[in-house]
Formats: sequence, structure tokens, C-alpha cells
Amino acid sequence: MKQRDELISWLNDAYAMELSNMKILEAHIDDMDAFPEIKARLQQHLGETRQHAERMKKCIESIGAKVSRSKVGFGKVLGMLQGRSSSLFNDEVVKDVLSESATEHFEVASYRSLIAAAEQLGETRVIEACQQNMQEDMAMADWVDGQVPALTRRFMDTQLAE
Ligand SMILES: [Fe+2]
Ligand SMILES: [Fe+2]
Repeated sequence: MKQRDELISWLNDAYAMELSNMKILEAHIDDMDAFPEIKARLQQHLGETRQHAERMKKCIESIGAKVSRSKVGFGKVLGMLQGRSSSLFNDEVVKDVLSESATEHFEVASYRSLIAAAEQLGETRVIEACQQNMQEDMAMADWVDGQVPALTRRFMDTQLAE
């Protein structure tokens, strides 16, 4: 019973994490007017993130438990990675993609952990849902990481050129 309760608690952490990621993504989307292709990919991932939250909710309910919105759990750790920029220059767009990268990698690690826990308990439905979420978060992590050098150069050329 203890193992099952912990799995439910971790699923709730993942649910809370996805809900908070939706808010962060919305803020980043607002910052990206000058970078339409980044904005579009963030918007796509916002849709995926909404589904991730929904999948976690269904997993919790399929085990016969209730979702708890009061969970902070992972959110606390992520909050530190998602702080807003304090630079002299308006380097928000660069900080946004760095925070986005940290978030996606953290999500992937969280789902790896959840999958291991669900495997231990034979919760097939949870394993599948976490794998689906993890794959989309991995794809997003790869894409974001690929954007970092070019975005940094563009920021320097357009905002910091003398
Ligand atoms: Fe996700
Ligand atoms: Fe994600």
C-alpha cells in the first residue's frame, strides 16, 4: 500500500508540474514576438503539455485516487530554474530558452522515475502514459537545445550590436 500511495503522490507531482509548465509556457510565448518559429514551437508544446496534464489526471483516477491541486513537490525545484531575468539588457528571450531546456530535461527525468515506479507495481496504463509524455518532452528538450546557440547569436547581433 505504501508503494502505491507514493506512486499516486508522484503522479500528483507530475500533474502539478505540467499545470505549472502551462503557465510558464504562456509567459514565454508572450516574450517571443520577435522569434516566430520559437513562438510556434512553444505554442505546439503548450497543447502537448495540456494533454500531459490530462494524461496524469486520468492515471490518478484510473488507480482510484483523486488529483490534488495543492501539491507543490516538483514545482518548488522547478521554480528556481524558471526565475525571470535580472540582466541589464533585455535578455529575457535567451533566459526563456535556458529555463525551457531545464524544464524539459527535468520532466524527462521525472517520467523516467515514474516509469520505474509504475513498472515495479505493474501499472501498465501509467507506464504508457508516462512514456507518451516523456517522448514529447524529450523531443522538446532536443529542439530547444538546438535553438540555444543561434538564438544567443541573434540576440547579440540585434540587441547588443554597437
Ligand atoms: Fe510534459
Ligand atoms: Fe514539456
